[in-house]
Amino acid sequence: MGWLDNDVALVTGGGSGIGLAVVRRFLAEGARGVGVLLRDQRQAGALQEEFGERVCPVIGDVRVYADHERAVNATVAAYGKLDTLVGNAGVWDFFSSLVKTEPDALAASFDEIFDVNVKGYLLAARAAAAELRKSNGSMIFTLSNASFYAGGGGPVYVASKHAAVGLIKQLAYELAPHVRVNGVAPGGTATPLKGPAALGKQDARLSNIPGFEQAVADAVPLAFMAQPEDHTGHYVLLASRANSRATTAAILQSDGGWEVRGRQKK
Ligand SMILES: NC(=O)c1ccc[n+]([C@@H]2O[C@H](COP(=O)([O-])OP(=O)(O)OC[C@H]3O[C@@H](n4cnc5c(N)ncnc54)[C@H](O)[C@@H]3O)[C@@H](O)[C@H]2O)c1
Repeated sequence: MGWLDNDVALVTGGGSGIGLAVVRRFLAEGARGVGVLLRDQRQAGALQEEFGERVCPVIGDVRVYADHERAVNATVAAYGKLDTLVGNAGVWDFFSSLVKTEPDALAASFDEIFDVNVKGYLLAARAAAAELRKSNGSMIFTLSNASFYAGGGGPVYVASKHAAVGLIKQLAYELAPHVRVNGVAPGGTATPLKGPAALGKQDARLSNIPGFEQAVADAVPLAFMAQPEDHTGHYVLLASRANSRATTAAILQSDGGWEVRGRQKK
């Protein structure tokens, strides 16, 4: 018996990092099947190799509404319904600062990062809303410590993750009482998170930044950098009707303690 027995989910950006860990955990919790909207054919092949027909990969771009629509339709065609949307695909700005970034690049990075991190969530919600209403399901969006605090990126990323908090609140308001809408806010996590082409960071990887793991560990009270799996229980809890029936517009922080950042000297 799992917490998500027979449920059906759709995860955006589920080919790597936190999204992939969520796909694995949902299936381990008994999900009937998981649709995955992702960009990379190689990641799609790896998912199919690992899970066979229990995953339904759809190649697409979260900035394009038609791609979300295809992903929802393919997931429902494969498994008969949709219980949970996990909006998760994102890009980071690699701490690009206001004054050190050329104005043109700053403007272009805003468009690219907001398109993926905010519009991508909005369009996923729009495409999934009708199916989730039918199933009395829920949406869960991946936020960040940067949804609440400065210092988890540059101004563009931090603003985009703050914007996603507003999206969760408004959608929870609009879609109640049929659909619950919640978030999970990880802190620094060992993933290959990339940046925008507008900043020349499309091939950069967060996990390749020298000293990043130690810097994250030094910045939070719990003193370690998370692995993607460390966050997945929060997604399971929020997806579970039995355990989160009364929870909407909530955000579970999974960030090592940014709220009480800094470590007491002992
Ligand atoms: N890694 C961290 O330290 C950290 C911390 C807080 C929040 N997050 C958030 O976690 C989420 C997942 O990121 P991750 O760290 O697992 O990195 P990741 O790069 O492994 O996952 C992001 C996924 O989004 C996909 N993606 C990016 N742009 C896309 C697009 N236009 N269309 C379709 N897919 C696209 C990527 O291909 C990738 O698979 C993001 O929203 C990120 O902002 C990450």
